[in-house]
Amino acid sequence: MNLLFIGDVVGQPGRRAIADQLSTLRSRLKLDLVVANAENIADGAGITRKTANELFAAGVDVMTNGNHAWDKKEALEYITTEPRLLRPHNYPDGTPGTGWFVATVASGHKIGILNLMGNVFMHPHLACPFTAANRALAEKPDDIKMVLVDLHAEVTSEKMAMGWYLDGRVSAVVGTHTHVPTADERILPLGTGYITDVGMTGCYDSVIGMDTEKSLKRFVQKLPERFEVAEGVGTICGVLLDFNEHNGLCRGITRVRVTESIPETATKVA
Ligand SMILES: [Fe+2]
Ligand SMILES: [Fe+2]
Repeated sequence: MNLLFIGDVVGQPGRRAIADQLSTLRSRLKLDLVVANAENIADGAGITRKTANELFAAGVDVMTNGNHAWDKKEALEYITTEPRLLRPHNYPDGTPGTGWFVATVASGHKIGILNLMGNVFMHPHLACPFTAANRALAEKPDDIKMVLVDLHAEVTSEKMAMGWYLDGRVSAVVGTHTHVPTADERILPLGTGYITDVGMTGCYDSVIGMDTEKSLKRFVQKLPERFEVAEGVGTICGVLLDFNEHNGLCRGITRVRVTESIPETATKVA
């Protein structure tokens, strides 16, 4: 089974790249399922019904989330009506939404998607993601062989530790949040696909998707400046995962990077 996981989608350049390229990728890579981390889809911070619908219409099947889940307040209500939009599973009991979703692909096979958030340097500080992973897997129905975990976390070590912790127990552990892709994709010894960070889907002429000039003002002059999504060409950054439907383990993990096609804007005058 082929699954494309798309890293943190940042604002309009990210959504535009997906609208432009995902249908081609779906047929070229023979995708059965597309999962995207959506915590930054609306103006770079949070999720709105409108922007989520844009991604669903472009072919994203399930959306994971992170520390920006509630930056747009409407997400608190929207998530209760849309089971394909997750939030980290280790939020306290009673938090709107859930971090677990079971997708059924065209072949009839089921795959569980589990969204977790790390503890180290992350705000808010949620329950232990390792314990939360154990609980979710213990509650998993037996007929679900494949499980994809998105661990949304800052530090590489916490994500790597989760990879080893779940090796052989889930199909893949992919990291999100830093917006910078790592080149360490691999299949761990017991068969779990792993990458520390999938990277960002958005404008790469930026500081992690945000306007470079405004970001520099914060870093260089130490002055307050509102982050704004960088304008420019959007790039999809993701990983293609091939899962064995029968034992739930990973057969392949490959980084995918595709840039939106730029329409001809200059009009030629005869
Ligand atoms: Fe993000
Ligand atoms: Fe994040």
